[in-house]
Amino acid sequence: MRRLRTLILAGVLGLTGAAGALAAGDAPVPPAQEWSHGGVNSPFSMFKTFDRASLQRGFQVYKEVCSACHSMDLLAYRNLEEIGFTEEEVKAIAAQYEIQDKTPNDQGELVTRPGIPADHFKNPFPNKQAAAAANNGKAPPDLSLIVKARSHHEDYIYALLTGYAEAPADHPVPEGTYYNKYFPGHAIAMAPPIYPDGITYGDGTKATVEQQAKDVTTFLAWAAEPHLESRRQTGIMVMLFLVVFAGLMYAAKRRVWADAH
Ligand code: HEC
Repeated sequence: MRRLRTLILAGVLGLTGAAGALAAGDAPVPPAQEWSHGGVNSPFSMFKTFDRASLQRGFQVYKEVCSACHSMDLLAYRNLEEIGFTEEEVKAIAAQYEIQDKTPNDQGELVTRPGIPADHFKNPFPNKQAAAAANNGKAPPDLSLIVKARSHHEDYIYALLTGYAEAPADHPVPEGTYYNKYFPGHAIAMAPPIYPDGITYGDGTKATVEQQAKDVTTFLAWAAEPHLESRRQTGIMVMLFLVVFAGLMYAAKRRVWADAH
């Protein structure tokens, strides 16, 4: 009996010890933030929509900061009309980029031309190897689906962007990496990308680190789930239909059975 008790005690202690070690080596759970759209994976956000102004500011952050390193292959410039840019604005944005045309000219050379709305977002690097070589061996991931590709979605991206800190003495990070509270392992090859007033917002919003992180994360959430709103609207219509249909059926049932009562 005594032996058994000691054994169980040892087992429990061992287990809690292991769990503690895991928690220490792992990144903390990112704190939950308020999102205008309620989060891409939130089941309770039927009536929530993306904040258009935040989406447009978020695009500005991506364009002026993140796009130096990160591609967004799944987006075309014309998709920006969906977040409230006009056709003219989209044309002007696309034209700022030099795109290599896929069709060679009459001399058989590949030429570049100004972008058009149908072009996909220009990749900052010609290939993955070049992207890695420029970033300490770690290629910056494509951001098209990043919000869905990480657990805790928006909350993680926001926490990551605002989670840089001085490396603690007991957790030095290797040369060329930066300490980040929320990155698994805490040593990330991305230098802190966002600075207070690092950009000037077109709409006059103050560009704090938190504001930029919030806006760019909202933009990335939309990019990963562009049909979020229409899907939710369909859900609402289906619910309304079911309510009306149930009412009709109830009325019909009373009518049919009226004589039998
Ligand atoms: C100077 C280049 C550079 C810039 C600018 C940059 N990043 Fe990165 N980013 C990287 C690199 C390199 C990695 C890969 C880091 C690693 O795996 O250690 C990365 C990784 C990431 C990741 C993935 C982290 C994970 O969990 O794997 C996200 C999200 C991210 N960046 C978002 C952004 C956003 C948003 C911006 C703009 C505000 C931005 N980055 C600007 C270089 C950059």
